[in-house]
Amino acid sequence: MNAEETLTQLAKDVAVCTNCVLHESRKKAVAGEGPADAEIMFIGEGPGFHENEQGRPFVGAAGKFLDQLLAQAGVTREDVFIANVVKCRPPGNRDPQPEELEMCDKYLETQIRTINPSIIVTLGRFSMGKFIPGVKITSVHGTMHRVGERFVIPMFHPAAALHQAALKPSILADFANLPDQLNEARKALGKTVISSKRKETASREPEKPQQLNLF
Ligand code: URA
Repeated sequence: MNAEETLTQLAKDVAVCTNCVLHESRKKAVAGEGPADAEIMFIGEGPGFHENEQGRPFVGAAGKFLDQLLAQAGVTREDVFIANVVKCRPPGNRDPQPEELEMCDKYLETQIRTINPSIIVTLGRFSMGKFIPGVKITSVHGTMHRVGERFVIPMFHPAAALHQAALKPSILADFANLPDQLNEARKALGKTVISSKRKETASREPEKPQQLNLF
């Protein structure tokens, strides 16, 4: 199976998963969405009301704010993969429980292994805890951490910033740093440092030889 097929199969598995109690109140599972070769992966907490209705991640108020934050960083949704630590809505948007996180982790692990992003941006404390346990989000938000073969940047959850106005300047500043951090990660991982615009062009047509630009 190629990467796209693996992610499609995973979404089918998640849709009928009964490994934890969250399936009992599920309308639609939310596996996640985005390109199978995304350089950046965002990992939130779990589907809310609207996500449970539509089967898509971050489509409610927090999602609208996430779209603004992405636009500010010069990225669009189509460039990134967006997933959650749990794929089914916790009733009443309660916190996901340890056994639910544990049962759902194999899906997230498969997504990460398949997509192999250079950067994972964690949104909120549950996804941060998976990669950088035992730290406080208030001390580490916006900082880049090498975790194995990629980098993890913990950020405040957009919903938290919507509810606590004091967090908004921090989340805006953290997202504004993302393009520079992406280039830093590319350099450290030995990947070509290119802007997302050039990346699109590069995948459609080969670059002209460098010397031609001299004339
Ligand atoms: N909050 C999340 O953490 N994930 C979603 O998909 C929507 C809201």
